[in-house]
Amino acid sequence: MTVWYALSAFAMVLVATSLLYFVLVNGMYREDQRDLADNLQNAILLLGASHGTELPGPVSGQPAHAPQHRTDIYVRVMNGDGRTLMQTPGMAGQVRAPAKSELLAIDPRHREVRQVLSRTGEPFLTLIAPIPAARANGARFIEVAMDRAHDEYLLARYRERLWLVLGSSLVLCSLVGYLIARSGMRPIEGISRKAELIRATTLHERIPAHGLPAELRGLAETFNGMLDRLEQSFRHVSQFSDDVAHELRTPINNLRGEIEVALGKARSQEDYREVLGSCFEECTRISRLIRTLLFLARSDTASDALQRETVDVGEALATIGAFYEAAASEAGVFLRVASAAGLCAELDRTLFQQAIGNLISNALAHTPAGGSVELAAVGGAQGVRISVRDTGCGIAPDHLPHVFERFYRVEQARTGSEQNAGLGLAVVKSIVTRHGGEVAIESSVGKGTEVRLTFPQPRIAPAAGPALTIS
Ligand SMILES: Nc1ncnc2c1ncn2[C@@H]1O[C@H](COP(=O)(O)OP(=O)(O)OP(=O)(O)O)[C@@H](O)[C@H]1O
Ligand SMILES: [Mg+2]
Repeated sequence: MTVWYALSAFAMVLVATSLLYFVLVNGMYREDQRDLADNLQNAILLLGASHGTELPGPVSGQPAHAPQHRTDIYVRVMNGDGRTLMQTPGMAGQVRAPAKSELLAIDPRHREVRQVLSRTGEPFLTLIAPIPAARANGARFIEVAMDRAHDEYLLARYRERLWLVLGSSLVLCSLVGYLIARSGMRPIEGISRKAELIRATTLHERIPAHGLPAELRGLAETFNGMLDRLEQSFRHVSQFSDDVAHELRTPINNLRGEIEVALGKARSQEDYREVLGSCFEECTRISRLIRTLLFLARSDTASDALQRETVDVGEALATIGAFYEAAASEAGVFLRVASAAGLCAELDRTLFQQAIGNLISNALAHTPAGGSVELAAVGGAQGVRISVRDTGCGIAPDHLPHVFERFYRVEQARTGSEQNAGLGLAVVKSIVTRHGGEVAIESSVGKGTEVRLTFPQPRIAPAAGPALTIS
């Protein structure tokens, strides 16, 4: 930043000073030309008045605004052959006379400007013009010359000062650039120092956005937003680990207890068989829990791709309904499937069956005998909407927003609830989300619950058939 700032500021100073220098050089040159032209005119008039016999000594041609310096003006009159007829005393020693060929090349309508060096190396600016009244006596020319040594001296001093200005401006630009870069970087250094200190244990720390320049406030807010999300995810992960440990502790303690009791004294074969049977049940539960947790973990990272295929939703629901038919009739619950024929969606069949299965299990578990569970599917602009509705006990409004959370069970304290992990609805949500769909739940205590799954990109067959019903 310092280098860029210093270079760009220096480049601007350089351009500005060079421009001023060239304007000055040009201005001085033009001024000299104008002075010479005036003097040429005066000399022609003087010549006419003195009948061309003699010339006055060097005249001073200083402009009114430069009183301290007098510029000597020399005049020379020549004939067409280049012979000098008369000249200001001292001029021959300063400015060499133009050659004949140079005089012949002069356009009579214009004045010829010459820049020559004197014998002592001083720069002279001269103006040569034909004398208008001298045609009858043959061509005559008049040359006025001006010593520009003083101009050159002034320009040389000006250049010296320019180098001084440029040198000091380079130093000054670098210094200012460094100070600007430092003050600009200081808040960034502050952000970076703060970010360096953030660890898993200090995820609550935030970068103070107030007092920062407007350009960096956005950066600090974005960074803080990222920390918010990280903190939330971190809390979520550690809560999940706590829950997993807690869920695994109970069945493993049960296993340990039963084995400990069985080993306490010698038992009959029948007793051992019973203990082993119970241990087997616990092991099955643990392995089911681990399978579900693995599934959810994989869903979070989406490491397993979906095996999508075109599924006839009506047929799939009928198959799942048939599978749960025995359990429903054992619970005394009327299970019904209603779907338009030919309603298709791009789904992973196994995961779809698992999601609907979880919903039917919940519905059957919470619907008393004599109640009903209905599976329905409709197609629409939003996609295929599948609902699982029961006439069971319902869920209280304060529990409803949490039922899709992992390990959340409404009846934590109820007997038999330890058989359920509280993961069924979390799995349903994860499956639907992976399909790009949405899940919603509605429930009223004592009346029943309805869970709606919406899967996008429906494929609706042109002719919708009659409703398919299984009871
Ligand atoms: N149809 C329903 N009617 C009443 N309550 C329900 C219904 N479905 C779910 N719930 C409540 O929501 C909670 C969460 O359900 P979820 O399926 O996630 O867990 P679970 O059934 O307790 O355990 P899991 O399904 O893992 O065996 C349950 O504890 C249950 O109380
Ligand atoms: Mg469940």
